[in-house]
Amino acid sequence: MSIPKLFSPGPVMVRSNVRNALLHYDICHRSSEFEELFTDTQKKINFLMGADQNYFSMVISGSGTSANETVLSSLFQEKDQVLLIRNGVFGERLLEIIDKYQIPKAEVAFPWGTYPDLAVIEEAISTHPEARVVAMVYHETSTGMINPVPEVGKLCRKYGRLFFVDAVSAAGGETIDMAENHIAVATSVGGKCLGAFPGSAYICARKTILETLTPDQCKNVYLNLYKHYKAARDSCQTPNTPNVNLIWPLNQALTNLLEEGLENRIARYQRCSAIIRDGFRQMGLRMLLEDHQSNTVTSVFLPDHVPAPEFLRKMEMRDYIFYLGKGPYASQNMIQVANMGEIYEQDCYNMLDVFSACLKTFSAG
Ligand SMILES: Cc1ncc(COP(=O)(O)O)c(C=O)c1O
Repeated sequence: MSIPKLFSPGPVMVRSNVRNALLHYDICHRSSEFEELFTDTQKKINFLMGADQNYFSMVISGSGTSANETVLSSLFQEKDQVLLIRNGVFGERLLEIIDKYQIPKAEVAFPWGTYPDLAVIEEAISTHPEARVVAMVYHETSTGMINPVPEVGKLCRKYGRLFFVDAVSAAGGETIDMAENHIAVATSVGGKCLGAFPGSAYICARKTILETLTPDQCKNVYLNLYKHYKAARDSCQTPNTPNVNLIWPLNQALTNLLEEGLENRIARYQRCSAIIRDGFRQMGLRMLLEDHQSNTVTSVFLPDHVPAPEFLRKMEMRDYIFYLGKGPYASQNMIQVANMGEIYEQDCYNMLDVFSACLKTFSAG
């Protein structure tokens, strides 16, 4: 077996200068060198998130869930409610965190893969004045759907709510404009569209919100937004020992993105997903979504005579890695093919050739 090609929505393949950044000499996180690295990384994240000078970014050592849990366990004062809009696995993951911290909630739940109805959302926002925060996933990775962030942002502006967006699989793959879209807090990670390693998540939040946090309202010791903000604001550091060695590659991946240009990165992802989708259409495969598809995840059903787990195993033997569909989609023979990180047009054509040949190894009858 040679080096596998990750067509999975994280971890992703990284550029060699990102991998080489792991070899940086050791530094201590209580050093001025770390402070410079951290501050530079924060600035680049702000740019990536379309955040102006009113926002502040923090790196959290952990996966995407750690960033989401930091936000949700810290943002609420007593009696505050959250209104959760959800339509897939990662909306349910937010729900799990909300319930674990016993945050009072209202919900607008759509079936998985269904585009959220804005009239229903507006009705829910307007009839739940106690819901100070509205939460939604930007790119629902479990289906590949892009949710209506600008539209819900407008509603949050109209009704004076804080908008929290899980942009874990969106940042670097879709346009995010926190200021324009009235997003108060957003989370994401290095190990997806940005093209860095897993284990470095980040939070970008409006400073006015961060300034009003109190130690009491934060319910977690490590995943504590107050502590992270205070350490970052006052000393350009983290409250605990961070994954210093992963912040170098995170910073390098951000530099790569700035050099490629955010628009060019997004355009490359669009071209790659278009190639993949055309290829699947030519193979006669049905895709889960016709509209509102992200630039980076394609959910596709395999023919009935091709069991998805076996197909994935066979593709792995051919050095290609995909995801099995989650929840009910697994039993519907759906798989997910992503194009995040170091994937270019020719990689997609090569993958499609192997995909098509592998499909033919299953007999229809
Ligand atoms: C939209 C979204 N939110 C949250 C998560 C959870 O991130 P992690 O697995 O890094 O904890 C994922 C993971 O794929 C995701 O796609």
